[in-house]
Amino acid sequence: MAVVGIVPAAGSGTRLGAPGPKAFVPFRGRPLLEWSVDALRAVCERVVVAVPAGHEQPPDRVTGGPSRSASVRRALEAAPEARVVVVHDAARPLVTPDLVRRCVEALEGVDGAIAAAPVTDTVKEAGDDQLVARTLDRSRLWAVQTPQVFRADALRRALDVDDATLAAATDDAALVEAIGGTIRLVEAPQENIKITRPADLVIADVLMSAS
Ligand code: C5P
Repeated sequence: MAVVGIVPAAGSGTRLGAPGPKAFVPFRGRPLLEWSVDALRAVCERVVVAVPAGHEQPPDRVTGGPSRSASVRRALEAAPEARVVVVHDAARPLVTPDLVRRCVEALEGVDGAIAAAPVTDTVKEAGDDQLVARTLDRSRLWAVQTPQVFRADALRRALDVDDATLAAATDDAALVEAIGGTIRLVEAPQENIKITRPADLVIADVLMSAS
């Protein structure tokens, strides 16, 4: 069973305010994406990284697409041997091989198994006027992360949609759900944070020192 890792790393990183692409921002002396690639390599036979144009070396790097899921699709096209696909964002350097392994194991009997943490804030839905429409039942809410692990055939079918549908998806599991796929949640540490703003790099550094 070929388990292939895919790291979408082709984002611009505008919100991070970095001069170059976010995945190449130095974090603890190495480009951010390398922390994710290392964790995936511990579990996957091969790791394909979707990068911004001009960064296609070394091998197993492909040019990303206009959206996150378009980048995942391009990387998956470069791995026709994949039977199980582990998708993990370059922007989450605190992922551990243990979490990747737990997600792969949880794939038994379902189409996807995704890392997620119970929500600790109360979440409200509001309209454009910023008036609260309703308060959601927090006990049933999960904040979804990556890794997200899929049966490759299900993910290939899910990604076979137009660019606008890919761009609207904020994670790959939503696309698999849209074709009727079953997705299992795997409880993950809150510490598996996503680097989005400059302060996230400071928080990630502290969390890594403490681990
Ligand atoms: O922008 P955001 O932080 O949600 O991006 C999540 C991940 O998707 C990042 O690792 C980013 O590099 C990647 N991405 C990509 N191709 C894009 C946009 C984002 O690979 N076109």
